[in-house]
Amino acid sequence: MISPARALEGVLPTLLDYSALPAETLRARIRARKQELNAVILGHNYQRVEIQEVSDYLGDSLGLSQEAAATDADVIVFCGVHFMAETAKILSPHKTVLMPDLRAGCPMADFVTAPALRRMKAEHPGAAVVAYVNSTAEVKAESDICCTSSNAVKVVESIPRERTILFVPDRNLARYVQERTGRDNIVAWDGYCYVHDDMVLQELELARKAHPNALLVVHPEVRKELLDRADVVTSTSGMVAYAEKYDEVIFGTERGLVDRMRQRFPNKTFVPLSGAAVCGNMKLNTLAKLAWCLDYRKHEVVLDEDVRVRAERSLRAMLEVSGGWKAPSDEEKALELAGVRPSGCGCA
Ligand code: 13P
Ligand code: SF4
Repeated sequence: MISPARALEGVLPTLLDYSALPAETLRARIRARKQELNAVILGHNYQRVEIQEVSDYLGDSLGLSQEAAATDADVIVFCGVHFMAETAKILSPHKTVLMPDLRAGCPMADFVTAPALRRMKAEHPGAAVVAYVNSTAEVKAESDICCTSSNAVKVVESIPRERTILFVPDRNLARYVQERTGRDNIVAWDGYCYVHDDMVLQELELARKAHPNALLVVHPEVRKELLDRADVVTSTSGMVAYAEKYDEVIFGTERGLVDRMRQRFPNKTFVPLSGAAVCGNMKLNTLAKLAWCLDYRKHEVVLDEDVRVRAERSLRAMLEVSGGWKAPSDEEKALELAGVRPSGCGCA
């Protein structure tokens, strides 16, 4: 095994060597490289606790995309899944966006492809396409506006009521939005998240029986029968806010969030609705891979520029509806064209 001393001299040929290093050595290495590269680590709420601890910003998809659009770091290291890192690259094209493990994809995003969406659009001429951010850059490029779990209702309400909406790819989020907005013209793609869709009523009833006074907070990716019984439906960052306020909560979401909340509030009672709710894709990122990724500046997210520009339009339409970015004024556009102000930065 390679010694930590040699490791710090830079003799670290493989990822396996990194995983043999003590956590404190890895953390020190990450801190040093981050400073050297002017890098920022963005971490999703489902990341392993070890990753959450070293993240500069932790959040849900909306918060992370707002952060990616606003950061002045040169390098963004994205600890989440592929569509999240892609979103960062779409919004910050001049920055280097890295992922510790390229295999960390989101199976829900893979339910819909750009050609399949084009066929759906051809069947519904004039319809608006709302793409949940859990989608590929190519699908975003075919869409009118994106949404996340925290702004889906607001995004759908921003579209004229009489216009048909094609909602991709999450059928559960689509149904939730349909009920909240009372619209009957939402056509949903038949996709889902295997982690949330697998949660069943029996698990909910068992958790409720064991904790009758607990608040039941669920993510909108769960099935209707669970959504109907929840006290609160919200995004992962919304859940963190409830953990800060309440002493006893059952969380209908991925385990990573619950584990971190238990660590932050050891005297509170936080219960996962399902102990089996683990997103294996999110868990692919480890401290060792993060240190390796910063050292070797890998794996870089690269996008086709035409796709990126079209995807940016639908993401910025979302950010304009939900805050965190505003369209430039004519004066700002002139400054962008002259290269005085960075394009798309959204700052005043
Ligand atoms: P949030 O935007 O609520 O963090 O959700 C992302 C996600 O992938 C949930 O499964
Ligand atoms: Fe995708 Fe589900 Fe994992 Fe979220 S929890 S990243 S939706 S697979």
